[in-house]
Amino acid sequence: MSKRVSKAVFPVAGLGTRSLPATKAVAKEMLPVVDKPLIQYAVEEAVAAGIDTMIFVLGRNKNSIADHFDKSYELEKELEKSGKTELLDMLRSILPPHVTCVFVRQAEALGLGHAVHCAKAVVGDEPFAVILPDDLIEDGQRGCMKQMVDLFAEQQSSILGVERVDPKETHKYGIVEHSEIAPGVGRLQSIVEKPKPEVAPSNIAVVGRYILTGAIFEKIEKTGRGAGGEIQLTDAIAALMNDEPVLSYEFAGNRYDERQY
Ligand code: G1P
Repeated sequence: MSKRVSKAVFPVAGLGTRSLPATKAVAKEMLPVVDKPLIQYAVEEAVAAGIDTMIFVLGRNKNSIADHFDKSYELEKELEKSGKTELLDMLRSILPPHVTCVFVRQAEALGLGHAVHCAKAVVGDEPFAVILPDDLIEDGQRGCMKQMVDLFAEQQSSILGVERVDPKETHKYGIVEHSEIAPGVGRLQSIVEKPKPEVAPSNIAVVGRYILTGAIFEKIEKTGRGAGGEIQLTDAIAALMNDEPVLSYEFAGNRYDERQY
């Protein structure tokens, strides 16, 4: 029977050092872009992909993220009293009623692989999405994760969202080597975390969008510390690739992140 992606993990425990000083006292994921915090774009992308369980892996000082998706009784009461129905509706639409949020703590910032593993008990043995909210992706249509969920429905394999980057920038990303199996879709042959341009196998970078099978958890458990002394998701994916197909997908849309500015 074909499996469906119904859960998304948002690793939001990082210290946000790339965005200092803006993130000294404010969670990076709560920084506004136009009129919404980054994390809300990420959750909306997941909802648009048909995902209904949002799992946030939080660190210390990230409670504002949980508060953002919580009901704000006092605020709603005030808006109701003053007849500001439009604002009230906007507030209530932050999270559609069919969506459930689960909050998990990552006690120590040991890396992206470790953060994803913190969600294991909630995810179980199902395929799931991982969305890094600091990679904001806009396609003006379905959304990047919906594109990937549609591909998953056909392929039933792990999928990494990828994009070609400036070859001088490979040290900022996970970089893959793949063989193309369809336009924009490749089968992974290798993946390495943040290689210097001189040794990078390509300029095809992993962006913050993944669909992973439940088998990734066991691989993370066996992954030691890698680049930057952290437990890297990239290294666990490299191990997964030896057991089952992992695909790369060149999504349609534009990505914005603070590395580019
Ligand atoms: C993480 C991943 C990296 C990926 C990037 C995309 O890096 O480790 O492989 O390319 O996200 O945003 P980080 O943002 O933690 O430096």
